[in-house]
Amino acid sequence: MSRNIVVTGAGSGIGEMAAKLVVERGDVAIGLDLKNAEFEVDLSNQDSIAQVVEQVSAKYGTVDGVIANAGTQTNSPLDLKVNYFGAVDTVRAFLPLLQKSENARVAITASGASLQPTDTNLVQLLLDDKREEAIEYGKSLQEQGPEIGYTNYSASKRAIATWVRRVAPTDEFAASGIGINAVGPGVVATPMTTELLSTEEGRALAFGAMPAPYNGALRPEDVADVLVFLVSGLNRSMTGQIIYIDGGFDSIRRGEDIWHAPKSMDQ
Ligand SMILES: NC(=O)c1ccc[n+]([C@@H]2O[C@H](COP(=O)([O-])OP(=O)(O)OC[C@H]3O[C@@H](n4cnc5c(N)ncnc54)[C@H](O)[C@@H]3O)[C@@H](O)[C@H]2O)c1
Repeated sequence: MSRNIVVTGAGSGIGEMAAKLVVERGDVAIGLDLKNAEFEVDLSNQDSIAQVVEQVSAKYGTVDGVIANAGTQTNSPLDLKVNYFGAVDTVRAFLPLLQKSENARVAITASGASLQPTDTNLVQLLLDDKREEAIEYGKSLQEQGPEIGYTNYSASKRAIATWVRRVAPTDEFAASGIGINAVGPGVVATPMTTELLSTEEGRALAFGAMPAPYNGALRPEDVADVLVFLVSGLNRSMTGQIIYIDGGFDSIRRGEDIWHAPKSMDQ
């Protein structure tokens, strides 16, 4: 039977490709974005999310999967608002609809950035849902320039990946039959990275921070294919996983032994 799959960030890049692949599988893609999608929504705003859930519910009735993929990399607190709070709020707002499905699945686009050094205080503020404090803290980082401001992005991605592992085995998800996983892409050629990847210097910066010895920059479909699998009925038992699709960055960064005394990511 055809499945209804919500895709956020469907107007561009990875999300646009994921929506296309959902349709190619014979399922229904329900695109959400600021623009260029079936439903317009600002995922940094809880009221806007509540409104779009009403609209989707009225039109489609059930939702079988959510691909929470929309994101920004502005090195400002907007990254916290969209990449962490926006993703958590979207998934939670769709839970009542997901619970009506036989085979509900959630997939989130985190990032290889979740493996980079970050500010664990900021990550904790996010996970503790201390929204105003987190935004203020993020602003103070932004004011110190783009390099330190980037912590807004890395912390948003570390927090969302941590949240996935935290909630996956709980009653809210596992006991309700809802699988939830994330992908952690390395450098992907999308509008988000066009400028960065357009110069030799930018490419050196990108692959210096996230080396990808296996096949270099990813194409949007390299990530979208995995997202679409994760929300399909084929994924019956996988939950709480962060799947790094990164040309080898995770094995370089965390090393071969992730089971004993893992290396701290933050020194
Ligand atoms: N491109 C990369 O190298 C890369 C690497 C790792 C992770 N990611 C993640 O992949 C995801 C998709 O990024 P992309 O590379 O396709 O970039 P993109 O800029 O092409 O697409 C992002 C989409 O999210 C939407 N969006 C942003 N803020 C929004 C908001 N407040 N409300 C609704 N929609 C909003 C944008 O309008 C855009 O259509 C993001 O979460 C990003 O952090 C990207």
